[in-house]
Amino acid sequence: MVETFLVTGSMGCIGAWTVAHLLRQGHIVVSFDISERRDRLNLLLNREQQEAISFVKGDLTDYEQVKTAIEVHGVTRIIHLAALQVPFCIADPILGSQVNVTGTVNVFEAARHSGIGHIAYASSIAVYGPPQRYGRGLVAHDAPHDPRTLYGVYKAANEGTGRIYWQDWGVSSTALRPYTVYGVGRDQGLTSEPTKSLKAVANGQSYDISFGGVMQFQWASDVAQQFILAAQEEPGGAHAFNLGSEPQSVAQFVDVVRDLRPDAQITVGKRQLPFPTGFDDSALRQHAAHVYETPLNDGIRATLEAFEAADTAVTG
Ligand SMILES: NC(=O)c1ccc[n+]([C@@H]2O[C@H](COP(=O)([O-])OP(=O)(O)OC[C@H]3O[C@@H](n4cnc5c(N)ncnc54)[C@H](O)[C@@H]3O)[C@@H](O)[C@H]2O)c1
Repeated sequence: MVETFLVTGSMGCIGAWTVAHLLRQGHIVVSFDISERRDRLNLLLNREQQEAISFVKGDLTDYEQVKTAIEVHGVTRIIHLAALQVPFCIADPILGSQVNVTGTVNVFEAARHSGIGHIAYASSIAVYGPPQRYGRGLVAHDAPHDPRTLYGVYKAANEGTGRIYWQDWGVSSTALRPYTVYGVGRDQGLTSEPTKSLKAVANGQSYDISFGGVMQFQWASDVAQQFILAAQEEPGGAHAFNLGSEPQSVAQFVDVVRDLRPDAQITVGKRQLPFPTGFDDSALRQHAAHVYETPLNDGIRATLEAFEAADTAVTG
Protein backbone atom coordinates (compact mmCIF):
# COMPACT_ATOMS: atom_id res chain seq x y z
CA MET A 1 0.00 0.00 0.00
CA VAL A 2 1.34 3.42 -0.93
CA GLU A 3 1.76 5.66 2.10
CA THR A 4 3.04 9.15 2.81
CA PHE A 5 6.19 9.15 4.92
CA LEU A 6 7.61 12.13 6.77
CA VAL A 7 11.39 11.70 7.06
CA THR A 8 13.06 14.15 9.42
CA GLY A 9 16.79 14.55 8.87
CA SER A 10 16.25 13.50 5.26
CA MET A 11 19.35 15.34 4.07
CA GLY A 12 21.52 13.31 6.44
CA CYS A 13 23.23 10.02 5.71
CA ILE A 14 20.59 7.59 6.97
CA GLY A 15 17.88 10.03 5.90
CA ALA A 16 19.03 10.12 2.29
CA TRP A 17 19.18 6.32 2.14
CA THR A 18 15.72 6.15 3.72
CA VAL A 19 14.28 8.54 1.14
CA ALA A 20 15.92 6.57 -1.68
CA HIS A 21 14.50 3.24 -0.48
CA LEU A 22 11.03 4.71 0.14
CA LEU A 23 10.91 6.04 -3.42
CA ARG A 24 12.07 2.68 -4.80
CA GLN A 25 9.26 1.04 -2.82
CA GLY A 26 6.77 3.44 -4.45
CA HIS A 27 5.92 5.54 -1.40
CA ILE A 28 5.31 9.29 -1.19
CA VAL A 29 8.09 11.11 0.65
CA VAL A 30 7.98 14.35 2.59
CA SER A 31 11.54 15.43 3.35
CA PHE A 32 11.87 17.59 6.49
CA ASP A 33 15.29 19.08 7.17
CA ILE A 34 16.74 22.41 8.22
CA SER A 35 19.39 21.95 5.55
CA GLU A 36 18.80 22.30 1.82
CA ARG A 37 22.13 20.69 0.89
CA ARG A 38 21.38 17.76 -1.35
CA ASP A 39 24.93 16.36 -1.49
CA ARG A 40 24.00 13.07 0.14
CA LEU A 41 20.75 12.69 -1.81
CA ASN A 42 22.69 13.38 -5.01
CA LEU A 43 24.87 10.34 -4.30
CA LEU A 44 21.79 8.10 -4.30
CA LEU A 45 19.16 9.72 -6.52
CA ASN A 46 19.36 11.69 -9.75
CA ARG A 47 17.54 15.01 -10.22
CA GLU A 48 14.59 13.37 -11.95
CA GLN A 49 14.10 10.90 -9.09
CA GLN A 50 14.32 13.75 -6.57
CA GLU A 51 11.44 15.56 -8.30
CA ALA A 52 9.08 13.08 -6.66
CA ILE A 53 10.07 14.31 -3.17
CA SER A 54 8.14 17.04 -1.34
CA PHE A 55 10.88 19.12 0.27
CA VAL A 56 10.10 21.03 3.46
CA LYS A 57 12.89 23.22 4.80
CA GLY A 58 11.91 23.05 8.44
CA ASP A 59 13.31 23.41 11.92
CA LEU A 60 12.49 20.53 14.20
CA THR A 61 12.73 22.76 17.26
CA ASP A 62 9.61 24.63 16.08
CA TYR A 63 6.54 22.54 16.89
CA GLU A 64 4.29 24.41 14.45
CA GLN A 65 6.60 23.65 11.53
CA VAL A 66 6.57 19.94 12.30
CA LYS A 67 2.81 19.85 12.78
CA THR A 68 2.15 21.85 9.60
CA ALA A 69 4.36 19.57 7.50
CA ILE A 70 2.39 16.55 8.70
CA GLU A 71 -1.00 18.15 8.12
CA VAL A 72 -0.35 19.86 4.79
CA HIS A 73 1.08 16.72 3.20
CA GLY A 74 -1.32 14.18 4.72
CA VAL A 75 1.49 12.23 6.36
CA THR A 76 0.59 8.70 7.52
CA ARG A 77 4.00 7.36 8.67
CA ILE A 78 6.91 9.04 10.45
CA ILE A 79 10.61 8.21 10.45
CA HIS A 80 12.36 10.65 12.75
CA LEU A 81 16.12 10.81 12.16
CA ALA A 82 17.09 14.48 12.51
CA ALA A 83 19.60 15.10 15.27
CA LEU A 84 22.89 16.75 16.07
CA GLN A 85 25.64 14.18 16.45
CA VAL A 86 28.17 13.85 19.29
CA PRO A 87 30.68 16.55 18.20
CA PHE A 88 27.90 19.10 17.59
CA CYS A 89 26.31 18.42 21.00
CA ILE A 90 29.71 18.96 22.64
CA ALA A 91 30.13 22.23 20.72
CA ASP A 92 26.65 23.52 21.58
CA PRO A 93 24.86 21.58 24.36
CA ILE A 94 21.86 23.92 24.41
CA LEU A 95 21.18 23.60 20.70
CA GLY A 96 21.91 19.88 21.03
CA SER A 97 19.14 19.46 23.59
CA GLN A 98 16.76 21.67 21.60
CA VAL A 99 17.18 19.61 18.44
CA ASN A 100 17.65 16.15 19.92
CA VAL A 101 15.29 16.28 22.90
CA THR A 102 12.72 19.04 22.29
CA GLY A 103 12.71 18.20 18.59
CA THR A 104 11.77 14.61 19.41
CA VAL A 105 9.01 15.74 21.77
CA ASN A 106 7.73 17.96 18.94
CA VAL A 107 7.54 14.94 16.61
CA PHE A 108 5.65 12.85 19.18
CA GLU A 109 3.33 15.74 20.03
CA ALA A 110 2.60 16.49 16.38
CA ALA A 111 1.91 12.79 15.74
CA ARG A 112 -0.46 12.62 18.71
CA HIS A 113 -2.46 15.62 17.54
CA SER A 114 -2.51 14.42 13.93
CA GLY A 115 -3.84 10.97 14.76
CA ILE A 116 -0.64 9.17 13.77
CA GLY A 117 -0.38 6.25 16.13
CA HIS A 118 3.20 5.13 15.63
CA ILE A 119 6.70 6.60 15.13
CA ALA A 120 10.03 5.05 14.16
CA TYR A 121 12.97 7.09 15.40
CA ALA A 122 16.74 6.95 15.78
CA SER A 123 18.25 6.30 19.17
CA SER A 124 21.87 5.17 19.54
CA ILE A 125 24.13 2.72 21.36
CA ALA A 126 25.42 5.91 23.06
CA VAL A 127 22.60 5.39 25.63
CA TYR A 128 24.84 2.69 27.14
CA GLY A 129 27.95 3.16 29.26
CA PRO A 130 31.61 2.28 28.76
CA PRO A 131 32.68 -1.37 28.26
CA GLN A 132 33.71 -1.93 31.90
CA ARG A 133 30.11 -1.16 32.96
CA TYR A 134 28.96 -4.47 31.45
CA GLY A 135 30.17 -8.09 31.47
CA ARG A 136 31.89 -9.86 28.63
CA GLY A 137 30.04 -10.57 25.41
CA LEU A 138 27.31 -8.64 23.71
CA VAL A 139 25.50 -6.04 25.82
CA ALA A 140 21.85 -7.08 26.34
CA HIS A 141 19.20 -4.86 24.83
CA ASP A 142 17.71 -4.15 28.27
CA ALA A 143 21.07 -3.53 29.98
CA PRO A 144 21.04 -0.32 32.06
CA HIS A 145 21.58 2.97 30.31
CA ASP A 146 24.65 4.83 31.47
CA PRO A 147 25.44 7.44 28.82
CA ARG A 148 28.75 9.27 29.12
CA THR A 149 28.04 11.96 26.51
CA LEU A 150 25.31 14.60 26.39
CA TYR A 151 24.32 13.09 23.03
CA GLY A 152 23.73 9.75 24.79
CA VAL A 153 21.81 11.48 27.59
CA TYR A 154 19.58 13.13 24.99
CA LYS A 155 18.96 9.81 23.21
CA ALA A 156 18.12 8.14 26.54
CA ALA A 157 15.68 10.98 27.25
CA ASN A 158 14.00 10.32 23.89
CA GLU A 159 13.49 6.68 24.75
CA GLY A 160 11.80 7.91 27.96
CA THR A 161 9.65 10.26 25.90
CA GLY A 162 8.60 7.30 23.77
CA ARG A 163 7.59 5.32 26.86
CA ILE A 164 5.45 8.15 28.24
CA TYR A 165 3.71 8.87 24.93
CA TRP A 166 2.66 5.23 24.85
CA GLN A 167 1.66 5.17 28.52
CA ASP A 168 -0.30 8.42 28.50
CA TRP A 169 -1.58 8.78 24.94
CA GLY A 170 -1.19 5.42 23.22
CA VAL A 171 1.31 6.67 20.64
CA SER A 172 3.57 3.68 20.04
CA SER A 173 7.16 3.86 18.88
CA THR A 174 10.12 1.81 17.73
CA ALA A 175 13.57 3.22 18.31
CA LEU A 176 16.56 1.66 16.58
CA ARG A 177 20.03 2.05 18.06
CA PRO A 178 22.71 1.99 15.34
CA TYR A 179 26.42 1.66 16.16
CA THR A 180 28.95 2.47 13.40
CA VAL A 181 26.97 3.22 10.27
CA TYR A 182 29.01 3.24 7.06
CA GLY A 183 28.15 3.94 3.44
CA VAL A 184 28.00 6.85 1.03
CA GLY A 185 26.74 9.97 2.75
CA ARG A 186 28.39 9.13 6.08
CA ASP A 187 30.62 12.16 6.30
CA GLN A 188 30.18 13.48 9.84
CA GLY A 189 29.97 12.21 13.40
CA LEU A 190 32.29 10.33 15.73
CA THR A 191 32.32 7.04 13.83
CA SER A 192 32.36 8.40 10.27
CA GLU A 193 36.09 7.76 9.74
CA PRO A 194 35.82 4.22 8.29
CA THR A 195 33.56 5.64 5.56
CA LYS A 196 35.89 8.60 5.03
CA SER A 197 38.70 6.09 4.48
CA LEU A 198 36.65 4.41 1.74
CA LYS A 199 36.09 7.75 0.03
CA ALA A 200 39.83 8.45 0.23
CA VAL A 201 40.64 5.07 -1.36
CA ALA A 202 38.12 5.74 -4.15
CA ASN A 203 39.87 9.09 -4.77
CA GLY A 204 43.34 7.50 -4.74
CA GLN A 205 44.27 9.13 -1.42
CA SER A 206 45.58 7.75 1.88
CA TYR A 207 43.65 7.95 5.17
CA ASP A 208 44.50 7.58 8.87
CA ILE A 209 41.58 6.24 10.92
CA SER A 210 42.22 7.76 14.35
CA PHE A 211 40.78 4.87 16.37
CA GLY A 212 40.96 1.11 16.49
CA GLY A 213 39.14 -1.47 18.56
CA VAL A 214 36.16 -3.68 17.87
CA MET A 215 32.68 -2.45 16.96
CA GLN A 216 29.61 -3.32 14.91
CA PHE A 217 29.53 -1.96 11.37
CA GLN A 218 26.13 -1.42 9.80
CA TRP A 219 25.60 -0.45 6.18
CA ALA A 220 23.49 2.70 5.81
CA SER A 221 21.31 0.98 3.20
CA ASP A 222 20.39 -1.77 5.67
CA VAL A 223 19.83 0.71 8.50
CA ALA A 224 17.49 2.78 6.33
CA GLN A 225 15.44 -0.25 5.31
CA GLN A 226 15.18 -1.32 8.96
CA PHE A 227 13.81 2.13 9.84
CA ILE A 228 11.22 1.86 7.07
CA LEU A 229 10.07 -1.51 8.37
CA ALA A 230 10.02 -0.16 11.93
CA ALA A 231 7.71 2.64 10.79
CA GLN A 232 5.36 0.21 9.01
CA GLU A 233 5.10 -2.36 11.80
CA GLU A 234 2.87 -1.11 14.61
CA PRO A 235 3.47 -3.48 17.51
CA GLY A 236 1.97 -1.32 20.29
CA GLY A 237 4.22 -0.22 23.14
CA ALA A 238 7.45 1.73 23.21
CA HIS A 239 10.34 -0.33 21.88
CA ALA A 240 14.05 0.32 21.55
CA PHE A 241 16.19 -2.20 19.69
CA ASN A 242 19.89 -2.55 19.14
CA LEU A 243 20.97 -3.09 15.56
CA GLY A 244 23.41 -5.96 15.30
CA SER A 245 26.13 -7.46 13.10
CA GLU A 246 29.19 -9.54 13.92
CA PRO A 247 31.59 -7.40 15.97
CA GLN A 248 34.68 -6.65 13.85
CA SER A 249 37.82 -4.68 14.51
CA VAL A 250 38.59 -1.56 12.55
CA ALA A 251 41.68 -3.45 11.33
CA GLN A 252 39.39 -6.19 9.95
CA PHE A 253 37.35 -3.51 8.18
CA VAL A 254 40.55 -2.26 6.58
CA ASP A 255 41.59 -5.82 5.65
CA VAL A 256 38.34 -6.16 3.69
CA VAL A 257 39.10 -2.90 1.90
CA ARG A 258 42.63 -4.13 1.05
CA ASP A 259 41.22 -7.41 -0.31
CA LEU A 260 38.99 -5.40 -2.63
CA ARG A 261 41.49 -2.62 -3.46
CA PRO A 262 45.05 -3.92 -2.83
CA ASP A 263 46.53 -0.41 -3.29
CA ALA A 264 44.47 1.05 -0.42
CA GLN A 265 46.57 3.19 1.95
CA ILE A 266 44.75 3.21 5.30
CA THR A 267 46.25 3.20 8.79
CA VAL A 268 44.38 2.39 12.00
CA GLY A 269 44.98 4.29 15.25
CA LYS A 270 45.35 2.80 18.73
CA ARG A 271 42.70 4.97 20.42
CA GLN A 272 39.67 3.00 21.66
CA LEU A 273 36.23 4.54 21.49
CA PRO A 274 34.46 4.46 24.88
CA PHE A 275 31.82 1.97 23.77
CA PRO A 276 31.39 -1.78 24.30
CA THR A 277 32.37 -3.91 21.33
CA GLY A 278 28.91 -5.20 20.51
CA PHE A 279 25.22 -5.11 21.38
CA ASP A 280 22.74 -7.95 21.29
CA ASP A 281 20.07 -7.60 18.59
CA SER A 282 18.02 -10.70 19.47
CA ALA A 283 15.07 -8.52 20.57
CA LEU A 284 14.97 -6.95 17.10
CA ARG A 285 15.15 -10.42 15.53
CA GLN A 286 12.18 -11.60 17.58
CA HIS A 287 10.19 -8.48 16.78
CA ALA A 288 10.89 -7.49 13.18
CA ALA A 289 9.57 -9.38 10.16
CA HIS A 290 13.01 -9.03 8.56
CA VAL A 291 16.50 -7.99 9.62
CA TYR A 292 18.62 -6.33 6.93
CA GLU A 293 22.21 -7.51 7.27
CA THR A 294 24.32 -7.19 4.15
CA PRO A 295 27.75 -8.84 4.72
CA LEU A 296 30.53 -6.33 5.42
CA ASN A 297 32.39 -7.34 2.28
CA ASP A 298 29.37 -6.54 0.08
CA GLY A 299 28.59 -3.26 1.84
CA ILE A 300 32.19 -2.07 1.54
CA ARG A 301 32.35 -3.11 -2.13
CA ALA A 302 29.13 -1.24 -2.93
CA THR A 303 30.39 1.84 -1.07
CA LEU A 304 33.73 1.86 -2.87
CA GLU A 305 31.99 1.46 -6.23
CA ALA A 306 29.56 4.28 -5.46
CA PHE A 307 32.37 6.64 -4.40
CA GLU A 308 34.39 5.69 -7.49
CA ALA A 309 31.39 6.32 -9.75
CA ALA A 310 30.79 9.70 -8.07
CA ASP A 311 34.47 10.59 -8.51
CA THR A 312 34.31 9.64 -12.19
CA ALA A 313 31.17 11.75 -12.59
CA VAL A 314 33.02 14.77 -11.19
CA THR A 315 36.40 14.27 -12.86
CA GLY A 316 35.48 12.27 -15.95
N1 LIG B 1 25.38 7.51 11.68
C1 LIG B 1 25.54 6.75 12.75
O1 LIG B 1 26.51 5.96 12.84
C2 LIG B 1 24.53 6.78 13.85
C3 LIG B 1 24.73 5.97 14.97
C4 LIG B 1 23.80 6.00 15.99
C5 LIG B 1 22.68 6.81 15.87
N2 LIG B 1 22.50 7.60 14.78
C6 LIG B 1 21.32 8.48 14.71
O2 LIG B 1 20.66 8.28 13.46
C7 LIG B 1 20.08 9.51 13.02
C8 LIG B 1 20.57 9.84 11.62
O3 LIG B 1 22.00 9.86 11.62
P1 LIG B 1 22.81 10.41 10.36
O4 LIG B 1 24.14 9.79 10.41
O5 LIG B 1 21.98 10.29 9.16
O6 LIG B 1 22.95 11.95 10.79
P2 LIG B 1 23.41 13.22 9.91
O7 LIG B 1 24.20 14.07 10.84
O8 LIG B 1 24.04 12.77 8.64
O9 LIG B 1 22.04 13.93 9.55
C9 LIG B 1 21.26 14.60 10.48
C10 LIG B 1 20.31 15.53 9.72
O10 LIG B 1 19.50 16.22 10.70
C11 LIG B 1 19.30 17.54 10.19
N3 LIG B 1 18.95 18.47 11.26
C12 LIG B 1 19.77 18.94 12.22
N4 LIG B 1 19.13 19.86 12.97
C13 LIG B 1 17.86 19.95 12.48
C14 LIG B 1 16.74 20.73 12.82
N5 LIG B 1 16.76 21.62 13.83
N6 LIG B 1 15.60 20.60 12.09
C15 LIG B 1 15.57 19.73 11.04
N7 LIG B 1 16.61 18.97 10.67
C16 LIG B 1 17.75 19.08 11.38
C17 LIG B 1 20.64 17.90 9.57
O11 LIG B 1 20.53 18.99 8.67
C18 LIG B 1 21.03 16.59 8.88
O12 LIG B 1 20.61 16.55 7.54
C19 LIG B 1 20.45 10.56 14.06
O13 LIG B 1 19.39 10.68 14.97
C20 LIG B 1 21.67 9.96 14.74
O14 LIG B 1 21.80 10.45 16.05
C21 LIG B 1 23.41 7.61 13.77
